Amino acid sequence: MKPALLTPETMSIKGIDLLKKIQDDFIGLDTKYKLADGTISPRIYLDSTASTLMMGAAHRASKKFLNHYSNTHSLLHFSARISTKTYAWIHNRILDFVHADKDEYTSFFMGSGVTAGMNRIAKTLNRLRPERDIVLVSMMEHHSNDLPHRKHGGKVIHIPLEKNHQMAGKINTEILEQYLEKFSDRINYVSITGLSNVTGIINSINKIAQIVHKYNVYLVVDAAQMAAHVPIQMSGFSNKDKEIDVLLFSGHKTYAPGSPGVVIARKSFLNAIEPEEVGGGMVDKVYPDNYFVTKKFPDREEAGTPNILGAITLGSAIHILDTIGMNNILEEDKNLIQYTMNKLTEFKEVHIYGDTDIQNCPRAGTISFNILGMDHGLVAAILNYYFNIAVRNECFCAHPYVQEMLSATHKEQLENCESINSNLSWKMEPWMGMVRISYGIYNNIRDVDILVSSINKLITNKNYYKSQYKIDENGDYKHINFQFSSDDFFSLTETIDQEIKIL
Ligand SMILES: Cc1ncc(COP(=O)(O)O)c(C=O)c1O
Repeated sequence: MKPALLTPETMSIKGIDLLKKIQDDFIGLDTKYKLADGTISPRIYLDSTASTLMMGAAHRASKKFLNHYSNTHSLLHFSARISTKTYAWIHNRILDFVHADKDEYTSFFMGSGVTAGMNRIAKTLNRLRPERDIVLVSMMEHHSNDLPHRKHGGKVIHIPLEKNHQMAGKINTEILEQYLEKFSDRINYVSITGLSNVTGIINSINKIAQIVHKYNVYLVVDAAQMAAHVPIQMSGFSNKDKEIDVLLFSGHKTYAPGSPGVVIARKSFLNAIEPEEVGGGMVDKVYPDNYFVTKKFPDREEAGTPNILGAITLGSAIHILDTIGMNNILEEDKNLIQYTMNKLTEFKEVHIYGDTDIQNCPRAGTISFNILGMDHGLVAAILNYYFNIAVRNECFCAHPYVQEMLSATHKEQLENCESINSNLSWKMEPWMGMVRISYGIYNNIRDVDILVSSINKLITNKNYYKSQYKIDENGDYKHINFQFSSDDFFSLTETIDQEIKIL
């Protein structure tokens, strides 16, 4: 159960080999659907930013664990001992994954993604230093790293982004520093994304930590996207200012659907106040009129029975990612992004959002774009119905960021935008959205080539495809004579009936 002992010399080569092996071992890579033109083809999954597919090896490891399944928090019966020890191993494995010193930091699970943990951290940090009433977040944040701070953290101020020819880039660290100076001892913490879920732009989190700590302000990192794409180092620097105080990520975006959200935080923060949630498992003694919270981590932060099975899948996935080497993963990812950018920028009709100078503004995992003159909803629907490419569209829970980029980038084009229904078009609401493609480690050049040739066909036959859709009362594009029935592909009741029959 120990992490694989790969030396730095063998790591990279073995890591790449392992990556190649693991790339085909994901559940759902061969899922097929019938398309609007009657053909049946395998789905190309380009929606990993929302949720990744299940890593086969991690899923199998967690299935094996089920033979020993039992609740944790006991070392008595054999299965309880296995569960408790395995569950503890995962917490340590996560600390290793993000290079967080085990004396300083703890990891704990919360909810089903970053959102629950971020709400908790906002409340915790607010209670820790109530005299500091300001929180800084950036303009590129997902709502889950903005609204929790507005509700629980204090007064939120949004840090603007760097601009390169009107294209939004990374967080503007000069302006960040100006805010830190201006509001100095009123700012409690800064909470920023490590990697944008809209553009894939990567922020230099340790550099930002160094700036923030000069002002005795804490740094929280939303690593919902970063964790599966970029190596993370929370501590272990000769300059302690570079350390990250709190970091959160989502198991379901890290190849372990159904797993919990992860919080890694300084124990000193958590020790200073009573945990927000109370219940079983986090107390040493309870009396009718009093109770004593345990000093043990992570127990004191995890009230109630945890999502043990999900945590085991996540621990397995993290272990595999780390064995591949996050540097190797990032390198492959960047190559795929560069390849996609090169291909997409050949289309004059395609506009990619955010700074496209990857040297200046590195990206991983995600690209959002629009085909000028076509609604994002229509493009996403055509890619899905005719080419079996699963993408996401609209504003990706980052309304301020998407709005800013849309309105800054092409006001004029928007005015000339054709649409099937002008009431719902960009003409009326230029901020309405984008099309987002996003990659996991299972995606490859072939997927990009299929995407690019599909976009080419889409642009060439734009009028034909447009004529095949109408907009329903919810503003969604519906094909005029093809209907997808999810029951044709999966019905839970039928699946259960089949399972019962087999018995
Ligand atoms: C950057 C970022 N932060 C936070 C979240 C929220 O994560 P979850 O939905 O897993 O709670 C997401 C989800 O897409 C995200 O992309």
